[in-house]
Amino acid sequence: MVQRGSGVVLSLAGLGFGYPGEGRVLQGVDLDLAAGERVAIVGESGSGKSTLLHLAAGLEPADAGTVRLAGQALAGLDEAARTRLRRVQVGIVFQSFHLIPTLTALENVMLPLELATDLGAAQRRERARAQLAAVGLGAKEGREPEQLSGGEQQRVAIARALVHRPALILADEPTGNLDSRTGEAVFALLLEQVRATGCALLLVTHSDALAARLDRVLRMQDGQLQDLAARASAR
Ligand SMILES: Nc1ncnc2c1ncn2[C@@H]1O[C@H](COP(=O)(O)OP(=O)(O)OP(=O)(O)O)[C@@H](O)[C@H]1O
Ligand SMILES: [Mg+2]
Repeated sequence: MVQRGSGVVLSLAGLGFGYPGEGRVLQGVDLDLAAGERVAIVGESGSGKSTLLHLAAGLEPADAGTVRLAGQALAGLDEAARTRLRRVQVGIVFQSFHLIPTLTALENVMLPLELATDLGAAQRRERARAQLAAVGLGAKEGREPEQLSGGEQQRVAIARALVHRPALILADEPTGNLDSRTGEAVFALLLEQVRATGCALLLVTHSDALAARLDRVLRMQDGQLQDLAARASAR
């Protein structure tokens, strides 16, 4: 079981990264995300927000500094161990949903339980059903993604990200492909579900209004993360 309410879930220290043949995207990024903490990252297009989430998830190795996920330094792990750690500790919500098109909503939500837990098929189905019901989609569990609206697909993706009770949710503009009303509802649902499960949230958004509803707002600028809360309280 994941420990809640204490400790640091994600720690980035002196993180640096550049794509091959390109300039530096990240330089000296520091961030400590406490268990259960909800943090927004804002910043201009191309400033490196998605890159940062990729590094945090261990999908891309940093070329300077360290990433610690649930207390484990990613650099000390081989690829299989890194993948396992990500599957157990992280849930990811993408802007474009990324559901598996040939699986039903329920099968999509069952998948992380298959990859990250030892639960048997019946228990996986039961847990996934409960999680789909929690996002209001119990009645549509048999539908494939293309038979769902964008907002519904993102709700399935939220259920999939949370179903195995990871310590951390990484969300990259999760409402970016939705109209503002649907986006608001999906954002509220994501926050409610994050709160209900007690996991930490690191969320990238272009909306200052949505960002302001989290515990802390960081701005990605010049390859670094600036804490905006400090500035706001100084005003
Ligand atoms: N695979 C890649 N190869 C080379 N350069 C890349 C690659 N992916 C991103 N970049 C570059 O890295 C920089 C940061 O990109 P990133 O996608 O992290 O920005 P972002 O802050 O998420 O932007 P947006 O708000 O538009 O999503 C950009 O200059 C981008 O062009
Ligand atoms: Mg991005």
